[in-house]
Amino acid sequence: MRKLAVALVAAGIVALLGIAVPAIAPTPGITQTELSEHLPKGFEADSERGRVLYHLAGCGNCHSNAAESGLIDNSPIGGPPLLSFAGNFHPPNITPDTETGIGGWSDVAFVNAMKFGIGPQGKRYYPAFPYTSFAKATVADLLDLKAHLDTLEPETSEIQEHSLSFPFNIRSAMFYWNLLFHDPTEFTPDNSRSIEWNRGAYLVNSLGHCGVCHSPRNMFWAERVEQAFEGGAPLKEGERAAPKLAGRDSVKILNGLDEWSGSIDENSSMYLITRNYSEHATIEDLDAIALYLSSLSPGG
Ligand code: HEC
Ligand code: HEC
Repeated sequence: MRKLAVALVAAGIVALLGIAVPAIAPTPGITQTELSEHLPKGFEADSERGRVLYHLAGCGNCHSNAAESGLIDNSPIGGPPLLSFAGNFHPPNITPDTETGIGGWSDVAFVNAMKFGIGPQGKRYYPAFPYTSFAKATVADLLDLKAHLDTLEPETSEIQEHSLSFPFNIRSAMFYWNLLFHDPTEFTPDNSRSIEWNRGAYLVNSLGHCGVCHSPRNMFWAERVEQAFEGGAPLKEGERAAPKLAGRDSVKILNGLDEWSGSIDENSSMYLITRNYSEHATIEDLDAIALYLSSLSPGG
C-alpha cells in the first residue's frame, strides 16, 4: 500500500512537471547529418535482411492481428490492445500508408523512434513499445528493418487512441521516465567473449527484447537490469509468467524457441515468438541465444 501511495504521489508530480519542462528541454536523438556516422562505409539497406529482423523482433506480434489469427506474416496495420495497469495501448499501423501508417518517415525519424522513443514532432512514446530494447540495435539493422517495412503494401486503418488513465495519459511525462530508466546506448560487444556469445547477447538484448517479459520490473514498470532474465510477471490473466532464463540449460532454451518441441502453451504470448524464431532464425542464431542465456549466472 505504501509503495502504491509513493508511486501515486510521484506520478502526480511528474504529471505537473510533465506539462512544463519537456517543452523547453532539447529533444534527444540523432540528426540527418549524424546518421552516416553510425553506418558502415558504403552501407546500403537490405530489405531481405530486414524481413528476417522484423520476425526476430516480433514486430508483427504487436502490430498485426497475428495474436488472433496465428498468421505471423499478416500486414502490420495495427494490433489488438495491450492491456496494462495504466490502461490499453493500441499498437499502430506501421505499413507505408501516409495517413494512418508511417509512410513518408525519413530514416532518421525511424531511428529516433526506435532508439529514443521520440516520434516526429517530438511525440514521446510509451515503453509499451519496446524502444528500451530496440535502442541497443545497430543503426544498420534498424535501416534494414525500415527497408523491409518500405516494401510492404501501404494499407489504411482506423487510428485508435490509447485509453489510459490519469496521469499516464500525459505523454510528455515520459521525458522523466526516459531520464530515469532509458539507456539509449547501443550494444557494445564484450571482447573477452566469443563472437557467438556476443551475437546471442545482441539478439536477446536488442531486437529480441526478451527482457521485456523475462526480467522483473520495478514499480515504475522499468526492467530491473541487475536482475535481468530472472523471470517476469504474467502479461495477461490466466497466462504463466515468463520464466527465468538466466543460467538455464541450453536445451531448454532451444526448446522454448522451437515450435515443434511443443514446450510452449499456444495461448501464451511466447507462442508467437516461438513461431517467428522457428521460421526465421538460423541455427547459428538459436545456438548463440542459448549459449548467452545459459552462461548468465542465475541470481545476477
Ligand atoms: C510489445 C508490443 C510491440 C512490439 C513487439 C513492437 N511494437 Fe511498435 N509500438 C507498440 C506500441 C504500443 C506503440 C505505440 C506507442 C505510443 O503510442 O506511445 C508502438 C509504436 C511504434 C512506432 C511509432 C508509430 C507512430 O505512428 O508513431 C513504430 C515506428 C513502431 N512501433 C515500430 C515497431 C517495429 C519496427 C517493431 C519491431 C522491431 C515494433 N514496433 C515492435 C508496440 C510494439
Ligand atoms: C511477450 C512476452 C515474451 C517475450 C518478449 C519473450 N518471452 Fe519467452 N516466454 C514468455 C512466457 C509467458 C513464457 C511461458 C510460456 C509457457 O509456459 O507456455 C515464455 C517461455 C520461454 C521459454 C521456455 C522456458 C521454460 O521454462 O521452458 C524460453 C526458452 C523463452 N521463453 C525464451 C525467450 C527468448 C530467448 C526471448 C527473446 C527472443 C523471449 N523468450 C521473449 C514470454 C515472453
